[in-house]
Amino acid sequence: DVTKLRLSSGASMPVVGLGTWQVTQDQELEAALDAALAAGYRHIDTATIYRNEHLIGKVISRWLKEGRVKREDLFITTKLPVFGMRPADVPDFLNQSLAKLQLDYVDMYLIHMPFAVKREAYEDGRISADGTDTTTDHLAIWKAMEAEQKAGRARSLGVSNFNESQVEHLIKNAAVPPANLQIELHLYHQQKAIVDFCKKNNVAVTAYSPLGSPGSKWLSLISGKELPDLLSLPDVVEIAARHNKTAAQVVLRHTVQRGIIVIPKSSNPGRIQQNIDIFDFTLSDSEMAKLDALDKGLEGKLFDMKFIGGSERHPEYPWTALL
Ligand code: A2P
Repeated sequence: DVTKLRLSSGASMPVVGLGTWQVTQDQELEAALDAALAAGYRHIDTATIYRNEHLIGKVISRWLKEGRVKREDLFITTKLPVFGMRPADVPDFLNQSLAKLQLDYVDMYLIHMPFAVKREAYEDGRISADGTDTTTDHLAIWKAMEAEQKAGRARSLGVSNFNESQVEHLIKNAAVPPANLQIELHLYHQQKAIVDFCKKNNVAVTAYSPLGSPGSKWLSLISGKELPDLLSLPDVVEIAARHNKTAAQVVLRHTVQRGIIVIPKSSNPGRIQQNIDIFDFTLSDSEMAKLDALDKGLEGKLFDMKFIGGSERHPEYPWTALL
């Protein structure tokens, strides 16, 4: 089944999932979830800090109750927040997530960020510069994650926004290696080195912002020049026309053809449908090579700028190679 990827945990993960970050309106998200489930999505990506787990719980419990989907066919990912980075926080936050999702297990539980902030520094939803919690111990947190897996509350475990040495640290020292790494990844930012590392170590990679977050100014800011949206690049548009597909489908297909899971976010039913209809065509080697060449070599530049000042005092600093 080309629509799924086998994880080191033994579970199968659908290679297209619905991203739910920054869908701001409750009704908009509920409608998007309905559209996604109707279009055949079974993988939904959320996090404590997205503050939308209750809405996802509401929609999937309705689908489950109506018998329109089976629990074992769903793949739900959520994440431990930056302000819950102590071993004792793990069961606390996972239980809160499960209650909101109305589930007794999640399919994937990720550590959201390699760094931590003090709880009080996050009160207003933003992270203050001096809020860094420098006592974080990845391995200790991971052991608490392993206990949750053993107890059946998380079927698979992974990390997000970790760099190669942070992932390697877990692989070398943990009883259960991470099954998944979720990072920002798209044509401008293909993350070749860490993807190769993960392939060698049987860590599945999930790409967030797989469309390059059209409209976002971050990439232009960081690369120091105006970068057009991926979806408007002539190479992408030309390849799309050749396959009778949209630019977004080509961009997603390129990443999926590299063996990477994608979680595009959309709240438009037509685009939600489009983003999963990428299994009926194949990019040729020369098309893949043409798209490979669009990488901007941004490794190590993005993450530091995007996330909080003050974190350079953290033992896991620097965050280079993260994004
Ligand atoms: P919308 O929700 O209106 O569809 P990313 O996942 O890379 O962060 O990208 C998300 C952004 O891309 C959202 O603004 C979303 O807008 C837009 N988007 C999602 N799917 C498509 C698509 N198939 N074509 C064009 N834009 C899309």
